[in-house]
Amino acid sequence: MTDRTAGAAGMTLVDRPEPKPAINDVVVEVHAAAYVPTELEWPSTWVDRAGRDRSPSILGHDVAGVVTALGYGTTGLTIGQRVFGITDWHRDGTLAEYVTVESRNLAALPGDVEFTVGASLPISGLTAWQGLFQHGRLRSGQTVLAHGAAGAVGTMVSQLAREAGAHVIGSGRAADRGKALDYGAHEFIDLENDDLADIGRVDLVFDVIGGEIQEKSALLIRPGGTLVTVTGLGGVRPEEGLSIDFVVESVPSHLTEIVQRVRDGRLRSNIDEIAPLDDAVAALNPTQRRRGKTVIDVRS
Ligand SMILES: NC(=O)c1ccc[n+]([C@@H]2O[C@H](COP(=O)([O-])OP(=O)(O)OC[C@H]3O[C@@H](n4cnc5c(N)ncnc54)[C@H](OP(=O)(O)O)[C@@H]3O)[C@@H](O)[C@H]2O)c1
Repeated sequence: MTDRTAGAAGMTLVDRPEPKPAINDVVVEVHAAAYVPTELEWPSTWVDRAGRDRSPSILGHDVAGVVTALGYGTTGLTIGQRVFGITDWHRDGTLAEYVTVESRNLAALPGDVEFTVGASLPISGLTAWQGLFQHGRLRSGQTVLAHGAAGAVGTMVSQLAREAGAHVIGSGRAADRGKALDYGAHEFIDLENDDLADIGRVDLVFDVIGGEIQEKSALLIRPGGTLVTVTGLGGVRPEEGLSIDFVVESVPSHLTEIVQRVRDGRLRSNIDEIAPLDDAVAALNPTQRRRGKTVIDVRS
């Protein structure tokens, strides 16, 4: 991407030099990658940590691949190891054949988990995990309102919250009902036609939508409950409760918990489409509504 105003249509597939590892980095041969469409709006997509323009910018931060080189001083990972995780927001990303990433951002990807599945998990799975358990301090028996419950993050939130013993109310558009229930929601609220207030009180709101929906949801939280969002906090806060806006971090122990659940059949990834790198620009500019992650199978 070179043009910040062009949107996803501004993506082009070009040859770029192979990235060089810095201290504590590894080079990963990317086998599969994914991105979040809102990346195009994030300042970190366009500037480095010092605020300097870093375009042309390679998008994508979800990665699954194989370590091919170690930077100076890197420990903990070995050449040839299968890995997955999230790469640094301020550096070139994973929609590429190779990416450099600090080794501490990666976990081992078990040999029986496909690279495409591995690449679908980090951002959405870690966001759900950290929002529910680290920031939301979810406990068994609590009620969770999981917004966008048919989306990439929401399907992970519903499944993990249900497994943890919570009662899950999923939300979304009318067409999302079946998928939200299939991915673990006990109930569904149609944000386009139902009245959110009808669900009653909840202990935890997991917001991925923001705006008026976040504000209405905050009013439904029981005293002592929590509003967790990844879209920025609005003006309404839960009474006698906590509100937390956070950015997901690549934590290897959390990645391991997530992938173990996928291996056990306790967690399903939510992949809409898998496309080869040559077709990535078209796949990342869909003509229809997205229904989960678009994963780019870089080696196919
Ligand atoms: N801060 C962080 O660390 C972090 C991490 C991950 C994601 N995020 C953010 O979280 C958001 C969700 O990410 P995602 O990957 O889960 O996206 P996604 O796969 O598009 O899921 C969002 C879901 O919510 C639905 N939705 C959105 N607005 C709605 C509305 N007004 N009424 C009913 N349903 C609505 C979407 O439907 P439609 O597609 O029809 O709109 C979609 O099904 C994005 O803004 C992303 O940037 C932030």
